[in-house]
Amino acid sequence: MTRIGFAYNQKPEQPAPLGNKATAHFGSVEDGELSRLDEEPPASNDEFAEWDSIETIDAVAGALSSLGELVRLEADEDFPQRLRDASPDIVFNIAEGSNGVNREAHVPAICEFYGFPYSGSDPFTLSLCLDKARTKETLAYHGIPTAPFSVIRDAADLGRMLRALPLPLPLFVKPIHEGSSKGITERNLCRTTAELESQVTFLLDHYRQPVIAEEFLPGAEFTCAVLGNGRTTKLLPIVGMNFSSLPDGAIPIYGFEAKWIWDRPERPLQMFDCPARIDADLARAIERVTLDAYRVLGCRDWSRIDVRLDAAGIPNVVEVNPLPGILPDPADNSCFPKAARAAGMSYDELIQSCLKLAAARQNVPLGRHLRKVRTVLKSASTPRAQRTRKLDGAAVNDSGSNRLSA
Ligand SMILES: Nc1ncnc2c1ncn2[C@@H]1O[C@H](COP(=O)(O)OP(=O)(O)OP(=O)(O)O)[C@@H](O)[C@H]1O
Ligand SMILES: [Mg+2]
Repeated sequence: MTRIGFAYNQKPEQPAPLGNKATAHFGSVEDGELSRLDEEPPASNDEFAEWDSIETIDAVAGALSSLGELVRLEADEDFPQRLRDASPDIVFNIAEGSNGVNREAHVPAICEFYGFPYSGSDPFTLSLCLDKARTKETLAYHGIPTAPFSVIRDAADLGRMLRALPLPLPLFVKPIHEGSSKGITERNLCRTTAELESQVTFLLDHYRQPVIAEEFLPGAEFTCAVLGNGRTTKLLPIVGMNFSSLPDGAIPIYGFEAKWIWDRPERPLQMFDCPARIDADLARAIERVTLDAYRVLGCRDWSRIDVRLDAAGIPNVVEVNPLPGILPDPADNSCFPKAARAAGMSYDELIQSCLKLAAARQNVPLGRHLRKVRTVLKSASTPRAQRTRKLDGAAVNDSGSNRLSA
C-alpha cells in the first residue's frame, strides 16, 4: 500500500481571548459577541489563525486513508526527523508553517531536500503568493489585471506617501504577508489621508511587516477554486460574494468582520452564491484571469484565487492561495469545498483528487500494488523519489515542476 505522509499544523486548543490585538481595533466588539471562538486568531499568536483545527485534520486524514497507509506528520520542529522516519511515498501538504515570510514553503522545501514527492505548489510559489506585492508584480508583468499598488515599509515610506500620494484615494491597505483576513477590517478602506495615516500606522505597528496600499476595486467579488495541472487545469464553479448579506452600512469586502464576527453559527451569513449568478461572458473573463494567474505563478494541483471587478467591470486578481482553506463542515462556509460540492464532488473526492494530481505529476503509484515496489526500494541506494521514478520507468522532471506549463 502507498504510504502517504500527511503534513499539517494543528491549531493549539486554547480559547481565544477577546479584545486581542486584531479585535481590539473594532470598537464594536463586546465580550461574548464573537462567534467561532475556536477559529479566532489568538491574542499573542496571530500566526495560528491559518493553522487547521483537529476537525479539518481528521477529515483530510479520513479522505486520504482510502488511497494508502496514512502517517500523520505534524509540521513542528521535529518534522524533518519524523518525515525521514516515516519515509512516505508521497506527502500530502496542508501545513501553513510557523516562522517568517517563507513559512508556507518550509514543508515542501524539506520534502524536496530529502527527495520526497509532495502535493501542491513548490516552495517558490508558496513564498511568492505569501507576498501580496511580489505576486502582483508577477501578474502585472504578464499583463494579468490586478489593482495598482504601492508598498509602505516603514514610517518614513508612509510620510513620503502622504506628501505625494502615488495613487488616488480611496486606497485599500493590507499587511503584505498575511491571510485569513488578519489585519483586514473595514478601517482598511482609507478615504482620506488622515485615515490612511492612522490605519497604515496601526498595521505597521501591530503586524511588524510592510503594508500594501491598493486602489480600491469597487465591483463584485468572486473566489475561484482551481484544480489540476497543465492543459487539464480546470475551474470549479465560481463562488460569488453576496455583500448584501452583510449588516446594513457595511463596506462590501470579505474581511475580518465578515469571516470571524458577523458569520455566527446561529445566524450564518448567506455570503456565497455557488455557482455565481453571472452571465457567460463574465464567467469566461473570470476564468481566463484565474487560469492565467495560476499558470504564471506556477501553482500546482490546487489553489484558490480571489477576483474582484474594477470600475470598468474587468476582473482583477486580488490574491492567490496555493494552500486553500478546506473546512469540512458545509456550515463553515469554506469556499473550496463549497465549489467542489457544486461540481458534484464530495469533500473526500476533493482531497483525493488533489493527492491523485500530485501523485500523477510525480509518477507515484497510489494504492495496493506499491507494496512490492517498496520492498525493492528499501534495498536500493538512490534517494527514494528518484528510485520510485526509475522503477516506474517514467521520465519526470526531477523538480516535479510544471512551472509556466499549465
Ligand atoms: N484592492 C482591493 N479592493 C477592494 N477590496 C479588496 C481589495 N483587496 C482586498 N479586498 C477585500 O479584502 C478581502 C481580503 O483581502 P485578501 O483576500 O487580500 O486577504 P487575505 O487575508 O489574504 O484573504 P484570505 O482569507 O482569502 O486568505 C478581499 O476578499 C476583498 O473583499
Ligand atoms: Mg483572500
